[in-house]
Amino acid sequence: MVPLKRRKVPSSASSDSSPDVACKFPQVVLFLLERKMGSSRRTFLTDLCRKKGFRVNETFSESVTHVISEKNKGDDVRRWLRSQGHDLTIAHLVDIGWLTDSLRAGHPVDILEGHKLHTTDYTQSTHKLTSSGGEVTTRSIPAYACQRRTTLSNRNTIFTDALLLLAENAELSGDDGRGLAFRRGAAVLKALPEAVTDMRRLRGCPCLGEHSLRVIQDILETGVSREVESTKQSERYQAMKVLTGIFGVGLKTADQWFRDGIQNIHQLRHSGRTLNRAQQAGLAHYDDLMQPITKAEADVIANIVEEAVQAELPGSQVTLVGGFRRGNPSGHDVDFLITHPQEGREEGVIAKVVSRLEAQDFLLYQKTTRNSYMKSNDGPARPASSMDHFERCLCIFRLTTGEQHEPKACTQAPGEDSEGRASKRAVRVDLVVSPFSQVAFALLGWTGSKLFERELRRWATREKNMSLSSHALYDNKQGRYLKAATEEEIFAHLSLDYIPPSDRNT
Ligand code: CTP
Ligand code: MN
Ligand code: MN
Repeated sequence: MVPLKRRKVPSSASSDSSPDVACKFPQVVLFLLERKMGSSRRTFLTDLCRKKGFRVNETFSESVTHVISEKNKGDDVRRWLRSQGHDLTIAHLVDIGWLTDSLRAGHPVDILEGHKLHTTDYTQSTHKLTSSGGEVTTRSIPAYACQRRTTLSNRNTIFTDALLLLAENAELSGDDGRGLAFRRGAAVLKALPEAVTDMRRLRGCPCLGEHSLRVIQDILETGVSREVESTKQSERYQAMKVLTGIFGVGLKTADQWFRDGIQNIHQLRHSGRTLNRAQQAGLAHYDDLMQPITKAEADVIANIVEEAVQAELPGSQVTLVGGFRRGNPSGHDVDFLITHPQEGREEGVIAKVVSRLEAQDFLLYQKTTRNSYMKSNDGPARPASSMDHFERCLCIFRLTTGEQHEPKACTQAPGEDSEGRASKRAVRVDLVVSPFSQVAFALLGWTGSKLFERELRRWATREKNMSLSSHALYDNKQGRYLKAATEEEIFAHLSLDYIPPSDRNT
């Protein structure tokens, strides 16, 4: 949030101000740029502002705090100010949207990302010349990933793969900030409707820092990024990727093992390390868990889970969430959200479902965590974190492919391959239980992608002064929780256009 500048304001009403209406906000002095706005609209808006108690100056001077323009690019407004001999740092340059929001609110509102004038205007289509002399149209790219639609069709995988590898490497080195910067850059490229063939296409795009741009330029010029290639070859990157890829192994453990000379699965197996229960399961099923899960396999698991939940708590609602809800054809696990319309009935359902699945011999591993969420009347104490507190179960399923849940028209016995052997595999499954009153938040929080979730929370905090979690939305200004029964209502509370799950693939 940009704080409003406070400056000395002449105590007597300036000759610019309307003499008959009291100025309610003496620390704010507006100047409306006539360029493109036109003089009659400018007069109309000036009168309106003054009626609402805003101070408006007819001419630009040092006392102006906000320069308001309409349909202007930031560059053009700056050039105009400079041509008038003014310093660019003295006032906020804002779009007309800030003024209409302020008039509606009845007071000067905080300057949000969407109110600022950008160097290059990407709120409207602009036209640029390409090297071949043809025109390319650049379109709107808002700064937050949750303001954009990102489908699975990505025209820039050559660049996004590179940036995501560097993100992964940064995170494996404990540098989450840098990782996030690369992820945001990659997300912008994913949202572009066409393949990038020219660096000039990226001018004015948000979230692409110097480093990301250098990587893209390398690839455009030589086909590869040297930095990415050398990262891929790096011993530490390779080892850390393998070790953290084991279910139950986090960054700290992997780092310790690497420093002790363990670089791969084989070395770990023969190292004599004591592994916890999760890590033992992760190692035992390593090859299976590395195999992507297909949508067909996810559907088989969905049938098993649905059957078990309905048997233990009839009337429950089971929803496939995570990547499969976003339309991904494959995933690293299968995520389910469970709730019951009668609040309270959902409590303890996981334990019953797990016992049932265990008796049916479906579970190779499970760890259940109880619900620890406490709603406080004073709102969330800390900024809403990415961790939630639902009752949940991380498990590994034994999936028998070609089994009775998906009958096949062949002579093969269920669960056997063509040579009569059972074809079984291990699959990671997450079960989460939400009270019915929180289910819209849980659904939004567990659908992902992870970056989309982060961006939603960042938007809520920075642009709306709200705290969003997978449990609730708290409005810090009003000092209360905002209710929502659907994802659409949450987007509306956040003043965001609704983005369906298939377009959250940031
Ligand atoms: N999630 C969460 N808390 C966790 C783990 C996951 O809130 N402790 C959320 C993530 O933010 C994400 C969703 O659950 O929105 C799914 O996470 P995950 O299964 O890791 O990723 P997917 O998007 O489903 O991708 P994949 O196909 O790789 O599983
Ligand atoms: Mn998942
Ligand atoms: Mn998951």
